[in-house]
Amino acid sequence: MKIGIDRIGFATTNKYLDLDDLASARGVDPNKFKIGIGQNKMAVADLAEDIVTLAINSTLEYLAEVDLTKLGLLIVGTESGIDQSKSASLFVKEALNLPNEIRTFEVKEACFGATAGLMMARDYVRAHPNHTAIVIGSDIARYGLQTSGEVTQGAGAVSMLVAGDPHIIAFEEGHASYSEDINDFWRPNNFKTALVDGKYSTEIYLKFFQQTFDTYLAQNKLTADDFAAITYHLPFTKMGLKANRLAVAAAAPDSRARLEDNFEYSTKYGREVGNLYTGSLYLSFLSLLENADTVLQPGARIGFFSYGSGAMGEFFAGELVAGYEQYLKKELHRRMLAERRKLTVAEYEDIFTKTLADLPADIELTSDVTPGKYYFAGQSGFARQYRNKK
Ligand code: CAA
Repeated sequence: MKIGIDRIGFATTNKYLDLDDLASARGVDPNKFKIGIGQNKMAVADLAEDIVTLAINSTLEYLAEVDLTKLGLLIVGTESGIDQSKSASLFVKEALNLPNEIRTFEVKEACFGATAGLMMARDYVRAHPNHTAIVIGSDIARYGLQTSGEVTQGAGAVSMLVAGDPHIIAFEEGHASYSEDINDFWRPNNFKTALVDGKYSTEIYLKFFQQTFDTYLAQNKLTADDFAAITYHLPFTKMGLKANRLAVAAAAPDSRARLEDNFEYSTKYGREVGNLYTGSLYLSFLSLLENADTVLQPGARIGFFSYGSGAMGEFFAGELVAGYEQYLKKELHRRMLAERRKLTVAEYEDIFTKTLADLPADIELTSDVTPGKYYFAGQSGFARQYRNKK
């Protein structure tokens, strides 16, 4: 039985910062951000949004289409968890009213957590062919005001239903993993923003891409010409562009053109929301499917490169399923991005600073999310409360 992604949902915040405005506030040439980094806007999460609300809202996009009697597993991958002990997935499970019988937990390995979850879900469905699994990558990327990583912040979640005989993409057997214990990006327990050796992190990313891509090609007797597209973890789109240049280096001219065009489509959403950490690779995949100017061929092979600092890399691939386009929510996503509120730099700085403060044991929060979406409603005795906006 083929196993893969059957449904996919995406959520981001309802506010953003235009990076032209950030460039002017920081005294930087706007082209550094737009071209040099390859980002236009970044999503900004306020106090009433966290990785739980983003995870819930991304899954609500397709939940009505899920047969809950078959669901056996719920995994949330995140770098920006909301509790040192309790899994974010329990809050998500409760809000979505999922069965108490499912197995559910949170996975951490920087931006790799959702891929770890996806691979576990693939194995789970292989072992339990009548069951399905939900895997969510949800994060708020915070580096801090006036840091070199500031322009590469962002927020959002991508949720995937993993099932047998999937409607969107069926994974090929196998994968190529590579790990090393290094300090390119990390966040000690008492830090709310990431520590990063930025330039080093980009070198390691490329090294891990080359390593896992070469291994995958050798294992499966493939070349770059065999791919319709390769999608990447996009901490910022220029990072993926550098990896894609390595991928196409030995490709035939027509394959190179195809891989370069499809790379551009895969970056459209990432440019608008910034780094989603765990969700970023899967947003690139969704962006490719929803922004390519023609429907991709059934059976087209799509590569996935996942990278989590610290560091863990993995390359895997899948083949698109005929009719996949009927399972996308392109118009909804375009509207969601278009209807966000633009913040001034002063508003962004104020919101950002507030989200770093420790909350008291008891507090009630309100939210301006649209009705029907979930928000973080505050704490009661330090226990987090989530509500559906009426
Ligand atoms: N016009 C066009 N391009 C310009 C320009 C201008 N006016 N001015 C500068 N540039 C270009 C530079 O030439 C450079 O291009 P290349 O990379 O092609 O050489 C690019 O803009 C960036 O310039 P700098 O290297 O000088 O930028 P910086 O010192 O401000 O740092 C960064 C950039 C290292 C990415 C920093 O933003 C950062 O640390 N970000 C966070 C770390 C990160 O995202 N790492 C990615 C790999 S780790 C990972 O993937 C996990 C994860 O999600 C964190």
